[in-house]
Amino acid sequence: MTDRSQKRRRIVVTGGAGFIGSHTAVALVEAGYEPVLVDDLRNSREEAVAGIRRIVGREIEWHCVDCGDAAAMAPVFNQPVHGAIHFAADKAVGESVEQPEKYVDNNIGGTARLTALLRQHGVRHLVFSSSCTVYGEAEFLPVSESAPILPAASPYGFTKQACETLLHHAHQAADGDFGVALLRYFNPIGAHPSAEIGELPLGPPANLVPFLTQAVAGLRGPLTVFGDDYPTPDGTCIRDYLHVCDLAAAHVSALRWLERNEGRLETFNLGTGRGASVKEVIAAFTAATGLDVPHRMGPRRSGDVTAIYADPTKAARELEWVTKRSLETCLEDAWRWQQRLGQKE
Ligand code: NAD
Ligand code: WQD
Repeated sequence: MTDRSQKRRRIVVTGGAGFIGSHTAVALVEAGYEPVLVDDLRNSREEAVAGIRRIVGREIEWHCVDCGDAAAMAPVFNQPVHGAIHFAADKAVGESVEQPEKYVDNNIGGTARLTALLRQHGVRHLVFSSSCTVYGEAEFLPVSESAPILPAASPYGFTKQACETLLHHAHQAADGDFGVALLRYFNPIGAHPSAEIGELPLGPPANLVPFLTQAVAGLRGPLTVFGDDYPTPDGTCIRDYLHVCDLAAAHVSALRWLERNEGRLETFNLGTGRGASVKEVIAAFTAATGLDVPHRMGPRRSGDVTAIYADPTKAARELEWVTKRSLETCLEDAWRWQQRLGQKE
């Protein structure tokens, strides 16, 4: 490591080899921080760390350990830690229904174990990955941070609600010494424009965009649109899709907010503020790439909400963050990443 990087503020990035964590690691380097990746690769590959290193052009500290394992985490704290961004979690909604214990243990237990470690080591800033899933089927759109938190539709959603509550308590217990930013992401998609890093679904993807790009690449059958009889203008569900690089930038903004607002806890929605239907995503992909998306209409997927998109005005006001990239750019970058993945196979 260079002298320059040693002087940078070290930020522990749990889940740093994952989809959002890897893009955030790049954004941290570009903003002058020193990311310290903690990822045991249970849902990612070492190749992501290599991709980050190629983009930033140098070594990045990486610990291949469980972020809740105090003994294995000890070397992380051998040098001062300025803050932490906690991405590490299991995130497959369907799997959480089958294996709720796994989700409670890694997501809630893991967050409790990590938070205790951070407080023990005097780390003053924590950014936490929450989700718009905490809102369930919101009554009013766009959804703001003050919307009610409804009973969770899945064990995964429950773990995000529980982690938020846990962090409220940890924040209170620390009495001004532990600032927390709870970030509720809407639907992150896309990839780094270099195509060095992106989403790496292990197994068949559950999410729309990776499924779509794999269908276009011929790796899967046609995309099934889950329901076209919803009460929306074209009958398909509406979501707020944002570029993962825009989302990564929000984490840098959240850290800076914590530095300006020592010891506070706030919750922020992170989305574009615009909803797009499944049919609009398909059309935008074709507009961005010139390629048709093989697809067919299918039945509704159980657990899907009809429509949700963010009111991101609090993030714009307090974090000084807004999304910059269009839906077409998201899809163009997702496609470039898919092509790169295809070449490697
Ligand atoms: P991801 O699976 O790509 O990344 C998570 C990373 O954490 C993986 O690399 C995995 O190996 C690692 N990990 C998991 N448990 C670990 C542990 N105990 N110790 C060390 N490493 C561990 O997921 P992602 O899409 O980048 O999501 C990051 C976070 O954002 C998660 O908390 C997720 O719940 C949340 N989130 C994601 C989305 C989305 O659509 N991707 C939306 C809202 C919220
Ligand atoms: C988007 C839209 C589907 C696949 C999930 C989690 C949520 C959050 C983000 C973590 C929906 C439709 C999808 C397909 C389709 N993650 N679709 N055919 O469900 O909004 O949110 O990821 O916190 O908690 O639930 O995202 O990408 O799965 O679906 O028609 O093959 O695409 O019905 O309308 P979702 P998604």
